[in-house]
Amino acid sequence: MNIILLGPPGAGKGTQAKRLVEERGMVQLSTGDMLREARTSGTAMGNKVAAIMDAGELVTDAIVIGLIEEKLQGDIGGGVIFDGFPRTLAQADALSEMLTRNGQTLDAVVAMEVNDHELIERITGRFTCAKCGAGYHDAFKLPAAEGVCDVCGGTEFTRRKDDNEESLQTRLTEYYKKTSPLIGYYHAKGQLAWVKGLGSMDDVAGDIAKVLDA
Ligand code: AP5
Repeated sequence: MNIILLGPPGAGKGTQAKRLVEERGMVQLSTGDMLREARTSGTAMGNKVAAIMDAGELVTDAIVIGLIEEKLQGDIGGGVIFDGFPRTLAQADALSEMLTRNGQTLDAVVAMEVNDHELIERITGRFTCAKCGAGYHDAFKLPAAEGVCDVCGGTEFTRRKDDNEESLQTRLTEYYKKTSPLIGYYHAKGQLAWVKGLGSMDDVAGDIAKVLDA
């Protein structure tokens, strides 16, 4: 089963994708994670990507389509969760072509609905353990012992450079201008299902499971 998690920054795509990996053995393909890896390479391309991401703008279609194409050559046995891809109509067309070429189908597009106020609160409070990547939040999820990661005991934490109000406003504008047209695109194909992203993480996971099991 191949699915897309579609939603604005902070909707909970990454959080829910990780649960699906654990619960269903699916493969998470996050273009955001791939680009964050690329930016650490120190290459000219990596530096260009870093500047675009920090500003909250979208990286070019050619770069992200290339990244996904490469990953789809590998083992995707349990199916793929596309997290943060596609983000433009050109990327959606490219994904459709890639899947068809590989004899694969797209089984569902889960659109996650969260209002802007909640998105801003979620994103500006988010931080992760520098050692193991476990996620925390200033208001919703602090480590049990202050300054110590619950998972690995690490004591250093990082915040994403684009998790500030200015970049976030650009990310939201990019989402409404370039990504939200995908809602109509997939609705017209009969593939779109809405879930409310505002409930607890367990409630949202339950709603996604209902869509996937329908
Ligand atoms: P990307 O990494 O994809 O970032 P994003 O879409 O902005 O999404 P986030 O990771 O910020 O949010 P999320 O929806 O995954 O939410 P999360 O689960 O983390 O992209 C970054 C950049 O890369 C882009 O701006 C662009 O420059 C570039 N890029 C990436 N893909 C691209 C593409 N295809 N084309 C072009 N450019 C691309 O949750 C957020 C927070 O909320 C966490 O703290 C979490 O703990 C909390 N939370 C989650 N669910 C709940 C809940 N139910 N209740 C309470 N808190 C919750």
